[in-house]
Amino acid sequence: MPEVSGPFADMGLDPRVVVNLAGMGVVEPTPIQAQSIPGILEGRDLLGLAQTGTGKTAAFGLPMLTRLLAEGKRPEPHSVRALILAPTRELATQIAANIEAYSAGTPIRTFRVVGGASINVQQQRLMRGVDVLIATPGRLIDLLERRALTLSKTDFLVLDEADQMLDIGFIHALRRIAKLLPEQRQTLLFSATMPKLMEELADSYLRDPIRVAVNPPGKAAEKIEQGVHFVNQGDKAALLAEYLSKHPDELAIVFGRTKHGSEKLAKLLGGWGFAVDAIHGNKSQGQRERALASFRAGKAKVLVATDVAARGLDIPEVAHVYNYDLPNVPENYVHRIGRTARAGRDGRAVAFCAPAEAGELWAIEKAMKSKIPVIGGEAPVQPQHGNRGRGPRGGGKPGGGFAGGANGGPNAGANAARKRPASRPSRRPKAEQRG
Ligand SMILES: Nc1ncnc2c1ncn2[C@@H]1O[C@H](COP(=O)(O)OP(=O)(O)OP(=O)(O)O)[C@@H](O)[C@H]1O
Ligand SMILES: [Mg+2]
Repeated sequence: MPEVSGPFADMGLDPRVVVNLAGMGVVEPTPIQAQSIPGILEGRDLLGLAQTGTGKTAAFGLPMLTRLLAEGKRPEPHSVRALILAPTRELATQIAANIEAYSAGTPIRTFRVVGGASINVQQQRLMRGVDVLIATPGRLIDLLERRALTLSKTDFLVLDEADQMLDIGFIHALRRIAKLLPEQRQTLLFSATMPKLMEELADSYLRDPIRVAVNPPGKAAEKIEQGVHFVNQGDKAALLAEYLSKHPDELAIVFGRTKHGSEKLAKLLGGWGFAVDAIHGNKSQGQRERALASFRAGKAKVLVATDVAARGLDIPEVAHVYNYDLPNVPENYVHRIGRTARAGRDGRAVAFCAPAEAGELWAIEKAMKSKIPVIGGEAPVQPQHGNRGRGPRGGGKPGGGFAGGANGGPNAGANAARKRPASRPSRRPKAEQRG
């Protein structure tokens, strides 16, 4: 056993894990790590809430690995000692890579099962049993139906992006999976957002849990400089091109709402000469992985994505997030913009809000309990009663042509007197005003 010291060692983490962390330059625990690790090491269930990019993966991964190592057991054939569930294939892959890095040089064997890859190969590997299985719920259910594994020896269950995992899209699969685990287990739930309803639901999976909330629920990461730019739908592409052109060497993620719309936008940007790739559910798994790899490597500077890339993905170089379309799940705004400003860096997030999206914007601001500063265009008037309303619908037509610029467009209001091309923002983003 290596001799180690420092705050992670003092918490009682396995020395081999601590050495691996030091090799990665991780020596000081973040607040969510400092507050979660001791309780998890004691065997307690835990509900952990902390902003995007603050190290939640290690907050559950390090103590879980320490406990598995302390047991000194090998997994029985077909069995899994710890199960981590995540909502997307790419996130499952990333968590697996993190867990492998933390446990390098130890006997821990990690395996990842996701859709879009050969199920037979996965079934084969599971025969030997694994210490830590990282899975998306859909593929795990397929494998369980094939009797490729048993969860009867699984003492740890982690739900990353827990609020999404407890949402209607996943809850059915999760109920089926959770029933197969022993009742005597340790369950850990982590996310950057935890709507009230979710916490109630979480109670049915947790026993006497510790609650750790590093920040008030639903808050965006502090180092993100946010802004909203009001613009007609038809003017968004040109406005985006203008923003992107200002930072040609920096990585940007652009979120669209639909697979089709995101693909179209990526093609358009590509035609305009941007080094762009796209990731969404209509792509093959191979294409999705290549797009992400190219973006991680900085070959593609712009990644157009649907909400499939909203949660969990850790690409530290991402400097800008553009919400080309506002998300219709308000919580996803916090996750989307959280793809920047990770691990203490800073980043910028611009939301493009068409007149028809005013309702979405207000729902987002309500969920975050804060206003997003206006950096361009004219804000629509918010109705007095019930701010979940759809807001005024006049002005731009969603999906309309490049006509805009007049009513409610970026050039309306204060700057209308000075005539500008339709696509120019009426006020430049705050940080742009420097130069
Ligand atoms: N104690 C630490 N010191 C320095 N860097 C750290 C520390 N813990 C984690 N990191 C790094 O911070 C980054 C973000 O970590 P992670 O992906 O776990 O964040 P997260 O809280 O899960 O975010 P999200 O809510 O977006 O999923 C990673 O690159 C990770 O290596
Ligand atoms: Mg995470």
